[in-house]
Amino acid sequence: MLTWVAILLFVHTAISAKRELFKSCAESGFCHRNRHYAHEVTKLGDTFESPYFVLSDSIDCNQLSCTGQIVKQLKNTQIMLPFEVDILEESFRLRIDELRSDTHFHKLNSCRFSAANLSMMHGSATSSKISSTMNDKSLQIFFNDSSATINFKPFKITIFYKGKPQVILNDNNLFNIEHYRKEEENSMFEFESDYDLFHDSFKDSRADSLPLGPESIGLDIKLLNMSHLYGIPEHSDRLSLEDTSQSDPYRLYNVDIFEYEPYSKLPMYGSIPFLIGLNPEVSTGVFWVNSADTWVDINKKKDTYTHWISENGILDLVIIVRQNPKEVSTVYSSLTGRVQLPSQFSLGYHQCRWNYNSEDDVRDVHSKMDKYGIPYDTIWLDIEYTDEKKYFTWKRELFPDPSGLLQELDETKRSLVAIIDPHIKVGYEVSDYLESNGLVVREKDFDTPYHGHCWPGESVWIDTFNPNAQSYWDTLFCKGSDFAGSSSNLHVWNDMNEPSVFNGPETTFPKDLVHFGKWEHRSIHNWYGKSFHEATYYALINRSPNHRPFVLTRSYAPGSQATAAMWTGDNAATWEYLKVALPMILSNGIAGMPFAGADVGGFFGNPSKELLTRWYQSGIWYPFFRAHAHIDSRRREPWIAGEPYTTIIRDTVRLRYQLLPVLYTAFYESSKLGYPVLRPLFYEIPENQKLYNIDDQFFVGSSGLMVKPVTEEGATTDSIYLPDPQIYYDFFKLGTTLQGEGIHELEVDLTTIPVLARGGSIITQKLRYRRSSQLMKHDPYTLMVFLDSEGTAKGKLYIDDGTSFNYRLGHFLEISFQYSNNILSSELKTNIARKFQDSLDDVLVERVIIIGLPDDFTSVKAKVTQGEKTWISNWTKENGYLVVKNPRVSISQSWEINIEV
Ligand code: NOJ
Repeated sequence: MLTWVAILLFVHTAISAKRELFKSCAESGFCHRNRHYAHEVTKLGDTFESPYFVLSDSIDCNQLSCTGQIVKQLKNTQIMLPFEVDILEESFRLRIDELRSDTHFHKLNSCRFSAANLSMMHGSATSSKISSTMNDKSLQIFFNDSSATINFKPFKITIFYKGKPQVILNDNNLFNIEHYRKEEENSMFEFESDYDLFHDSFKDSRADSLPLGPESIGLDIKLLNMSHLYGIPEHSDRLSLEDTSQSDPYRLYNVDIFEYEPYSKLPMYGSIPFLIGLNPEVSTGVFWVNSADTWVDINKKKDTYTHWISENGILDLVIIVRQNPKEVSTVYSSLTGRVQLPSQFSLGYHQCRWNYNSEDDVRDVHSKMDKYGIPYDTIWLDIEYTDEKKYFTWKRELFPDPSGLLQELDETKRSLVAIIDPHIKVGYEVSDYLESNGLVVREKDFDTPYHGHCWPGESVWIDTFNPNAQSYWDTLFCKGSDFAGSSSNLHVWNDMNEPSVFNGPETTFPKDLVHFGKWEHRSIHNWYGKSFHEATYYALINRSPNHRPFVLTRSYAPGSQATAAMWTGDNAATWEYLKVALPMILSNGIAGMPFAGADVGGFFGNPSKELLTRWYQSGIWYPFFRAHAHIDSRRREPWIAGEPYTTIIRDTVRLRYQLLPVLYTAFYESSKLGYPVLRPLFYEIPENQKLYNIDDQFFVGSSGLMVKPVTEEGATTDSIYLPDPQIYYDFFKLGTTLQGEGIHELEVDLTTIPVLARGGSIITQKLRYRRSSQLMKHDPYTLMVFLDSEGTAKGKLYIDDGTSFNYRLGHFLEISFQYSNNILSSELKTNIARKFQDSLDDVLVERVIIIGLPDDFTSVKAKVTQGEKTWISNWTKENGYLVVKNPRVSISQSWEINIEV
């Protein structure tokens, strides 16, 4: 009963964003003080004398790094701030710490926290050698084709790339480290504010004891000649970051933001303090390695100033300057890790709602999907499947035989995803174990387990920073466990892991709770969600070491991409949320988190049939494609809308399945190079500045497919922007082409999804309807060759078993297709495992469609060569394009088709 009251209360309060629950910058002590500092320093202009300078005598350089001391000159004393510069992945890294005295009386770990271990553990970054020269005013460091000049007084760092200055740190003198001090100490400058130094006056966090007092860090980073920046998710906003001089800064603080508003800078569930700035010649990545509450101000001019402010931690910063955004992504992802190659099934369609209420309900939805011919791969269980929200239990009266259900689903290769949250109800074996073994997050007294409220009522939270928590978490998912049993088609959804605490300040933990290692929650807040979904990932690996786990997380941080997919949380069933989902997903991709999606249909409320249909037409392009709905919303499985909607939705979902080879190949590329799966136009063509504001259109990987989903109610026309002079083909009406950079108007009806194929691309599809993606494994391919103006095209295809890690042993095919001089060739990358190659011998190319040949051809000879053999294939001409029918070549071999026109 109580739980239902809690749910109703939550639903009631969830109708619109409750801004008053969250601090504005003015209400956040450290943001307030640093912004005040910025205003005062700017006001003083040239007359401002910064208290910070580099002690030239302290500099010590070797082949890999330079170290030294920055001094903060107080009235009567000096604070020492040791710094280190080194080069990681040929990029400039700066770390600044503080030598603290008098802090050893604290029970807390009194060092400044370094988030690098948490965020960089998946990466493979290497250090480079440097050389240096110094005089009494500055130090110059040379590395690769870059250099950095560190000016001692005023302290300022300029980073040069290919001889040109690109980034200046502390050009505006906003560098500020609030040193450790006692409350009675009076060490303030007149240009500083003392707002909330030792107390928090925000109504919900007055109890914050701020045991280490003010500890914030701030720095301005100027990106020269750049007025477009992208990244720092998660915000429900446009893709190109906006100037914040007249608003609050963008905030990075993982919170459960009830029904967030579209186009807002409020914090959300995840935080990635990484952005990319862009101009036609250069791209710059800024990675602010910090896991505490963080705000970013942006002041756009010809050069853009960004002002980064974090509540505590060391200052750790990587500046990546390269020629284009792709190169920046590759460097960033070698620091933080790349997306795990997903299990193939997880790229299929996910059917979810809060809640499918019983095994029979699940069976009913499952059988209707087949009845209506809608492919799907997973059905999801939200929190109601549990016994009183006790995770790892089942509500037995409604779910008497989960293993049996899992087996039934497995007959058509479907999976079940069940939710497991980090709040654990007080008073059953899981919480008892966690509490009695010291594996929960604790109160500031270090002894008392923290109790707060979430779905189950009174709960404790697992401390996934405690290494011992992992082995216990493993047992809950292991083969013998009641919960997961031996079913490898049970996967996991980690929700509410910001963490969400219904009675906590700003809907989350009090900042002065403590974690393993004597760290305050304040220091690691933004990384808690990641530590939790990682624990789940490793527990699933422990269950089946050669099975790629699928974990969906709501909260995330840099590096989350290596172990989880994310979605954008609680949106609503309105057109505005449909629109904003795209820039949100694109922004995550830019920030290295490409496996992203949004609730199709909108979580809160009830979509009109038109909106639902349009949402599917947009949603099939989300790298993570899941329909989801709030417990109070009406049922909206695709057959409920009726005709013509059901058929349109069915065909839309089928299109997703037809294009799975394209999507999987895009993920492969992302897992190798760190590129987004969905790419804004400017990401592919950064030379063209006219593309910098377009965020409702995208390319799918490197395939050449360009999509502009319809997101306007009642649309009869739509416009699409051609980013370059190349010829573009309508993907569905093969005779229709568009050409000429700029806006092109299209007529649309409810069935239209504007999808164009760029001339020069080869798209691989599997066109047969199957009930799930795993049943498509041996289906034949159709190749669509879209010729460019030179009559050439190319494409890539990646195939592996889609479930195991055997690809690491060479069990995969990487195929390059090329069309030139009227020859289509397929070439396999060498060094592949023979056994895997043989297993695909029966997978054929059943059709090759060549679009863009001069349309006066009448007679064609399609000569096929595979290995030693040559034969002639049938062909037809349809609407001016050529179809080579059943050429009988295997996808697992190299071959050629010579078109003699
Ligand atoms: C919040 C999540 O964002 C939503 O998707 C889920 O349905 C509810 N929690 C209930 O678990």
